[in-house]
Amino acid sequence: MHRREAPLRPNGGAAIRLAHVRKHYPGAAQAAVGDLSLDVPEGEVVVLVGPSGCGKTTVLKMVNRLVEPTAGEIHVLGEDVRSVAAPVLRRRIGYVIQQIGLFPHRTVEANVATVPRLLGWDRRRIRDRVAELVELVGLDPALLQRYPSELSGGQQQRVGVARALAADPPILLMDEPYSAVDPIVRARLQDELLALQRRLHKTIVLVTHDVDEAIKLGDRVAILNVGGVLAQYAPPAELLRAPADDFVAAFLGSERGLKLLSLVTVGQVASIEGPVVDGDVTPGEAAAVMRRFGVDWVGVRAGGRLVGWVADRDLDGRRRVADAPAQPFNAALRPDTTLREALDVLINSRTRVAVLVDDDHRYLGMLTVDQIAEGLR
Ligand SMILES: Nc1ncnc2c1ncn2[C@@H]1O[C@H](COP(=O)(O)OP(=O)(O)O)[C@@H](O)[C@H]1O
Ligand SMILES: [Mg+2]
Repeated sequence: MHRREAPLRPNGGAAIRLAHVRKHYPGAAQAAVGDLSLDVPEGEVVVLVGPSGCGKTTVLKMVNRLVEPTAGEIHVLGEDVRSVAAPVLRRRIGYVIQQIGLFPHRTVEANVATVPRLLGWDRRRIRDRVAELVELVGLDPALLQRYPSELSGGQQQRVGVARALAADPPILLMDEPYSAVDPIVRARLQDELLALQRRLHKTIVLVTHDVDEAIKLGDRVAILNVGGVLAQYAPPAELLRAPADDFVAAFLGSERGLKLLSLVTVGQVASIEGPVVDGDVTPGEAAAVMRRFGVDWVGVRAGGRLVGWVADRDLDGRRRVADAPAQPFNAALRPDTTLREALDVLINSRTRVAVLVDDDHRYLGMLTVDQIAEGLR
């Protein structure tokens, strides 16, 4: 799932750069955002996560200049946001606001067409673009003439995304986009966002208070504490492996190791050669390999492929290992399989190993619980 590398821009690859940004709302006892520095690499999904009131919405609004910082600098696509007229800036930045915020008295079609209309596109271009967007976000075109109140939460959310993407901005800001939908719809919308991102390669900053959502969606996750203090900023696997402090560890919650299982792939851990022999070796040679690995079975290879495994007791009286009946391995894993799936295969296998093959079914190695545990370090 973790995903393509973004092409680097001359400015170090940051589509959005916050440098010592501070926001103190007039009359507030303390700053909403203290001294925040953060680079959002182009083409990545960065998730800001933290408790309610820690300044997440304020950060998004400073990026598109709905809120002016008290101090510090914000650069978008290499330009200081203060040097760009706000309407020009917002054309480069799609915004999915908290609680979706569709215009209730406009149809779905008019909602999606909001920005193209502001930009003065002609009717035909707007109609074509709306049709394209509806397809992109998976909305039924029959819904276009309805009003927002006539849609489910999930449908409204898709309309919000379509509206934000209407003018094809390179940057998308999403503020708690799934907080208003139930967990099943939320999981589906999250999957859709990841699929959409694989097609569109936007730079996305998504805000949530749900740490599991952050881990699932983020190429990088910024964990904020109250007062907009950045506690840690790292790819999800790195956060789970090495939380910077007790606040981050507590925020990530229990079962860090289990969460990590879903993020690390089999290809990222070192496999072992395993007890494997060519089919034309003798039972005596196979027995030596079994002893070396402390098992009572041996994998049988033919022409680079793993045919299956043979039990020690089935080798009695055979001339070659290939003469004994081979049993198939449960399931072969690919390098992009997660450790979580690998563990499931292991648990369900008689041999207590998972077999790893490449896309041409060529044998790459084996994993046991030891290699999986090692991969979580
Ligand atoms: N317009 C405003 N005026 C004064 N205080 C505000 C305003 N907007 C937000 N705040 C305060 O700033 C802090 C951060 O708010 P916000 O950015 O909305 O946090 P989050 O999105 O993480 O819940 C909170 O204490 C909030 O009450
Ligand atoms: Mg908020």
